[in-house]
Amino acid sequence: MTAVLSVRDMVVRFDEFLALDHVSLDVAAGESFGIVGESGSGKSTLLRAVAGLNAFEAGSLSINGQSYSGRSRSKEFYRTVQMVFQDPYGSLHPRQTVDRLLLEPLAIHGFDNVDRRIMRALDEVGLGSGFRFRYSHQLSGGQRQRVAIARALILEPKVLLLDEPTSALDASIQAEILNLLEQARRDRNLTFVMVSHDLGVIHHMCGRLAVMKSGKVVETVAADALEKRDFSADYTRQLLVASEGFRRV
Ligand SMILES: Nc1ncnc2c1ncn2[C@@H]1O[C@H](COP(=O)(O)OP(=O)(O)OP(=O)(O)O)[C@@H](O)[C@H]1O
Ligand SMILES: [Mg+2]
Repeated sequence: MTAVLSVRDMVVRFDEFLALDHVSLDVAAGESFGIVGESGSGKSTLLRAVAGLNAFEAGSLSINGQSYSGRSRSKEFYRTVQMVFQDPYGSLHPRQTVDRLLLEPLAIHGFDNVDRRIMRALDEVGLGSGFRFRYSHQLSGGQRQRVAIARALILEPKVLLLDEPTSALDASIQAEILNLLEQARRDRNLTFVMVSHDLGVIHHMCGRLAVMKSGKVVETVAADALEKRDFSADYTRQLLVASEGFRRV
């Protein structure tokens, strides 16, 4: 497997607390990789450390064969790796128009043809041009999350880090957003790392997944293993039982 994202023995500590305890994973190009685990197990910390939002004190990270340590990241890294957060209210400035929100990353990274790119991005996330000059505080949660996704996609990234991207949304909107993410992944040959507490979502979206507990990866299994109950850790079984979303169990 040629890994587009490779994490080796990553350690993140907050004061004395070990939030990531030697975490390793490899994600292949074009793969959709899930991360599950109980609340506080370190899922967001892992994504944030990969994204450069949390420093890691030991271990290594490589993206597309390029190594990164601690917190230092190149500008190209910030284009290649994009993150979508759970809360679309917190992640978009409320007093900016959609146009401005989409223009900003393009300007930072020196993209040309900004009009065409903005229109295409709005189209891709199912928001027409009518949304372009709305303020983000005038949008619903689902529409905001579409803007957040457009903002990530507009930079033509290779890796999308998705931290509970639909858990703040109601079920019908959730399905629409997951479908558009999946479509974008196929069209653009993107690699996803997706955190969700909903094993049904992970089973639907991902080929493989890592199960986290207390800052460690307990096991890495194929998503099919959830259905076949083909995993080794008791903890995974408990998660499966606890996950309301996985109704096929
Ligand atoms: N900035 C921080 N400072 C101190 N402790 C932190 C910080 N960020 C996270 N932690 C702690 O690290 C642990 C892992 O947090 P993290 O947010 O990664 O969990 P999670 O698996 O994403 O949980 P959830 O499912 O609730 O989102 C928690 O105990 C949390 O309190
Ligand atoms: Mg989290």
